[in-house]
Amino acid sequence: MASAVANLRAVNAGNARFNNEALSWDSRPFVNEASQAAAKAITAKWKAIDWHPKQVLEIGCGTGILSFLIAPHVDRVVAVDAAEGMIDVLKQKIERPNAPKNILPVAVLLEDPEDGSLPPADAGKPDGERQKFDLITSHLVLHHIPDLKGVLETMLGCLAPGGRVMLTDFQDYGPEAKRFHPQSKFEGVERHGINGETMSALMKEVGFSKVSVQPEWSMPKTVEKFPGEFGAEGKPADGSQGEEVDVPFVLCYGERPG
Ligand SMILES: C[S@@+](CC[C@H](N)C(=O)[O-])C[C@H]1O[C@@H](n2cnc3c(N)ncnc32)[C@H](O)[C@@H]1O
Repeated sequence: MASAVANLRAVNAGNARFNNEALSWDSRPFVNEASQAAAKAITAKWKAIDWHPKQVLEIGCGTGILSFLIAPHVDRVVAVDAAEGMIDVLKQKIERPNAPKNILPVAVLLEDPEDGSLPPADAGKPDGERQKFDLITSHLVLHHIPDLKGVLETMLGCLAPGGRVMLTDFQDYGPEAKRFHPQSKFEGVERHGINGETMSALMKEVGFSKVSVQPEWSMPKTVEKFPGEFGAEGKPADGSQGEEVDVPFVLCYGERPG
């Protein structure tokens, strides 16, 4: 119950923030570059294990930047996000002439693998069991989720036997990781990055096999020199504000036993 209430609070805070930011989301260089790096790490991982997913679920897709990069390599990406504003932007993007036509946007806070908003496993049985996926991705989402164990259980339930998760987020590399977000954007941030040991233990506890949580890349980010430096906007007002740090990212990998 306590976790459901915490989830609801975080969702409301997160939805308000992400609905407000949806229209300007794609104009942020860091957001685009981070998704490109995530797509590179994910596709490199599936090549390294000589495996190729067809049906992909992205949880917390935002405006679909990562979905757009993954879609050309797979049969379909079901792209879900709890913030309707983000999904509205994605719906507009997939109408553009050169957009991939194999992305299905869904506005939902996914907490149940049998959620009726997911596509059915059998198109002839629209109310039947929901589709199961070869691969689940999520990028820069885990640090917003209050109940990490709960979302991992949901992911496991959304995977086909032998399916895999490849989840990317910034690493909790110590007290400095707190500077990833400016102070004005702390609401809805549940943890300052992903701690490899904690995450591996949780993934194993939930039932994933062959778990690994490894730093995969790092990238520069302009962060506050002191808490609150960027004010309510959360952005440097001019070139004198902020400083550049190198932020490490992890890829969390696990398999649903076949
Ligand atoms: C920091 S944004 C990242 C968006 C996108 N992945 C990107 O990197 O551009 C986090 C997103 O996760 C979504 N989110 C958080 N928890 C979620 C959940 N349980 N189900 C669906 N979406 C969720 C939020 O609505 C938000 O759009």
